[in-house]
Amino acid sequence: MSKTPIILGIESSCDDTCAAILHGQKILSNIVANQDVHKIYGGVVPELASRAHQQNIIPVVDAAIKKANIKKKDITAIAFTKGPGLLGSLLVGSSFAKSFAMGMNIPLIAVNHMQGHILSHFIDEGEPMPEFPFLCLTVSGGHTQIVKIESPNRMEVIGTTIDDAAGETFDKSAKILGLSYPGGPLIDKYAKNGNPHAFEFGKPKIKELNFSFSGIKTSIMRLIQKGVAKNPNFIAENLKDLCASIQHSIVSILLKKLEKAIQQTSITQIAIAGGVSANSYLRSELEKLATTKGYQLYIPKLEYCTDNAAMIAIAGYFKYLDANFADQSETPSARLAF
Ligand code: KG4
Ligand code: ZN
Repeated sequence: MSKTPIILGIESSCDDTCAAILHGQKILSNIVANQDVHKIYGGVVPELASRAHQQNIIPVVDAAIKKANIKKKDITAIAFTKGPGLLGSLLVGSSFAKSFAMGMNIPLIAVNHMQGHILSHFIDEGEPMPEFPFLCLTVSGGHTQIVKIESPNRMEVIGTTIDDAAGETFDKSAKILGLSYPGGPLIDKYAKNGNPHAFEFGKPKIKELNFSFSGIKTSIMRLIQKGVAKNPNFIAENLKDLCASIQHSIVSILLKKLEKAIQQTSITQIAIAGGVSANSYLRSELEKLATTKGYQLYIPKLEYCTDNAAMIAIAGYFKYLDANFADQSETPSARLAF
């Protein structure tokens, strides 16, 4: 195990087919094939996603190997997303990884997608990395968590959503506004020139470090329905202010609980991860907060925020160091917990 391993990472939990190659903690390639097929449906269609993964997986892996300028036989181990995610999509990645491991006679490593998001902070690109222990606000399309990380392979969820995820709230709000899927980046875009205090939405009262977004979603829907009933052009005339206000509400909920977690744990090394960590307002508000309070903040590069396989490869790297391998009986799990 002394030689620096070359890990091939495979990520296929939702609608992106991804492959990446890491040499130790250094990135050699990171390929993402997006699936445009879902756009017209306003959300991911699971059956179409798994079919597209089947078409994409081999060309994407080939591209990752070529870009990394290595040979297939140079790969030390293969890591794949075991879950959580869409079962049909996960099956494509896990079946590919199992066959590849068997064919090449190399170790197979099963990775939790959410842990992958967090560990993307340890991809070595010359930037400072979080010190242990640190807190990570992990915000994606399906999850909203505050995680306490003691070491790469030891982490604990200390807060989670009891209903919708932050990304889902962005996407559903965007749908109500008539924006296309995924709506998070579009809300971010239109919000840039809007007033974040133009509209007020209900605030959740949830105990401890947990989150709830279902109330704010209903509140957004009611406000828009009322507005449109009075003025059919309500959305078009107020789009920027609506986006800015929705974004402000979601980000405020996230930051409030993160601050509470910082107070409770006295941990001031803070990271964010997951698709919603690409949100420019969340990033800038967190930066302000960290500067004011003296927190050490780690924000991933945009390419490592949304789903990618480099994060699966880095999580695989840490499991490789622990010789924590899976075998051919490993199966994906749609609701995999930590
Ligand atoms: O982590 P991710 O790529 O996939 C999941 O694991 O779910 O996260 C996708 C989510 C979507 O809900 C998407 O709308 C949201 O991340 N997202 C954003 C932004 N970019 C992606 N939400 C708000 N602002 C953004 N800039
Ligand atoms: Zn994700």
